[in-house]
Amino acid sequence: KKIAVIVGGPSTEAEVSRNTGTAIANALEHKGYHTEMLELVPHRLADELKKKNIDVVFNALHGRYGEDGVLQGMCEMMGMPYTGPGVMASAVGMNKVISKCAFQGAGIATAPFAYYFASQGLDGITENIIEQFDFPVVIKSAGQGSTIGTVVVRSPAEIRAALEEAFIYGKSIIAEAFIDGDEFTVAVMDDVAFPIIQIVPSTGKYDYYAKYTPGVTQHLCPAPISGELTEHMQNLALKVFHLCHCSGVSRVDLMTDREGHPFVLEINTVPGMTATSLVPDAARAMGLSFDDLCEKILLEASI
Ligand code: DAL
Ligand code: MG
Repeated sequence: KKIAVIVGGPSTEAEVSRNTGTAIANALEHKGYHTEMLELVPHRLADELKKKNIDVVFNALHGRYGEDGVLQGMCEMMGMPYTGPGVMASAVGMNKVISKCAFQGAGIATAPFAYYFASQGLDGITENIIEQFDFPVVIKSAGQGSTIGTVVVRSPAEIRAALEEAFIYGKSIIAEAFIDGDEFTVAVMDDVAFPIIQIVPSTGKYDYYAKYTPGVTQHLCPAPISGELTEHMQNLALKVFHLCHCSGVSRVDLMTDREGHPFVLEINTVPGMTATSLVPDAARAMGLSFDDLCEKILLEASI
């Protein structure tokens, strides 16, 4: 079978995607599969897949076009099997306004938030944030990954610049209460929650730099927390996975507050698979090598 690992594209996370795709392609080659890395050019992709007689798409795209349901819809229309979740799970997972409303509606603890659209104007949004939130408050673009378009705001004077930054990437944003505690992630595949990772960035903030610079962030896995909290967070992750209709491997990010209560931040339906990414470490902690994990994801590809 001919497998195309799709990477890059116009997303802000294109570089991360190329690193994810390279790791996946290498893993599949170790397993004896023939893979081809294809750089995403949106309007040409369908033709390229046909011309190259591709049988399966391994989706290694993060963000726009690849993680938001667009690639998934195209593959379905073409009858082309692809890895990971379908159209709806992808679209919901990529949008923090919609996913957080869904978590809230399903009774899944998520950090208190409000959402805003650029059409409301920066002055009105600023006023509303000051009224509704204590500081610090986190401003996030609704549709980005890897902490792009996310700013921690420590005083009212900093709101405007944060809004300007977040609105660079799209028309909607969220403001979210800053959870002052520890950061965790739970990968889920086949209805099974992986061991939890506690994320400890030496810089104190898990931003783009801390995510992708080797040696900056420690992954403690299994997380050194009580069995009770482990089970609680794994159950939350499974609930989110099911609510969003996920398949393949997805990763649910959480924070605990000072009292140790967990809050779901988001779900990532095409989690990073780079050398510094989380899911490969969580898989290894339960005895699943990276090569085996990639093969497992490939074998679950469907239409
Ligand atoms: N958005 C990045 C790739 C992640 O969640 O791993
Ligand atoms: Mg994300």
